[in-house]
Amino acid sequence: MFKKSLLAVAAASMLTLTACGGTAGAGSAAGNSGDDKITMGFAQVGAESGWRTANTKSVQDSAKKAGVDLKFSDAQQKQENQIKAIRSYIQQKVDVIAFSPVVESGWDTVLKEAKNAKIPVILTDRAVDSSDKTLYKTFLGSDFVEEGKKAGEWLVEQSKASEPVNIVEIQGTTGSAPANDRKEGFAEAIKADPDLKIVASQSGDFTRSGGKQVMEAFLKNNADIDVVFAHNDDEGLGAIEAIEAAGKVPGKDIKIITIDAVKDGMTALSNGKINYIVECSPMLGDQLMDLAKKVIAGESVPERVVTEETTFTQEQAKQVLASRPY
Ligand code: AHR
Repeated sequence: MFKKSLLAVAAASMLTLTACGGTAGAGSAAGNSGDDKITMGFAQVGAESGWRTANTKSVQDSAKKAGVDLKFSDAQQKQENQIKAIRSYIQQKVDVIAFSPVVESGWDTVLKEAKNAKIPVILTDRAVDSSDKTLYKTFLGSDFVEEGKKAGEWLVEQSKASEPVNIVEIQGTTGSAPANDRKEGFAEAIKADPDLKIVASQSGDFTRSGGKQVMEAFLKNNADIDVVFAHNDDEGLGAIEAIEAAGKVPGKDIKIITIDAVKDGMTALSNGKINYIVECSPMLGDQLMDLAKKVIAGESVPERVVTEETTFTQEQAKQVLASRPY
């Protein structure tokens, strides 16, 4: 079902959309550090994946480099923990709050509390679905719909005409922006070939164990699986374990497409166990610190900053593996 030729690397672009005012400076709550050092409260999603570990390191390293006093919390993938952390940052009167929302909905109340306290908020990595855009200053992160599209377009390109292709999808965390958007982008792209069919779709919560469990169930219930589309590398790596345990060869008997391009994923791609990876960059720290400084100084910032990303075939992975920083 797969053609021999592979697609070239997709061009990466660094976009900044509609410029808008981020004027927190004048009205911003005074930080409590008692000096000129900026205090940032950062409410992280958790430690669910290799991507998340790299993202946390990027934020912590960049804060140190930029002289930002970072208060960091890990929500263990629970929205209530993130809300608690944000409330605690409001109480501590930090200068700026940044967070990567576990899920898209349910943020308006706590974001209004931050706004009333005159503490600017920066969204990093994931979006919220609030219609009130004044609740945060800017959103820095990937275009997840585009990532899903790139995964689907590669599959369309590889598929032979008139042969049915059964796809199973391992979604990310239910209700999260990357799960919603990657699903949408992938479904949109594979419409181009009516032979491509998603026969099962379930959440693996962006974890390796989740990916393994979901894949075991898929293999039990579906006799003929051609392709796995996993919403991140960790889920794909879990799926590989399940496929091997079922006596099949990942990357050959069942093709695997994932998103992220972290070291373990890229290693599996180089070894032929994954077939294609769409990059999602976790290196958001430096841009986040720059945006925070601007917002606090009352400078205008773009309302959306989209990160730079590419794609990798097996051959391309072999070439860059040694130099991957995460
Ligand atoms: O929000 C980014 C996603 O979250 C990454 O793709 C995934 O690995 C992580 O857990």
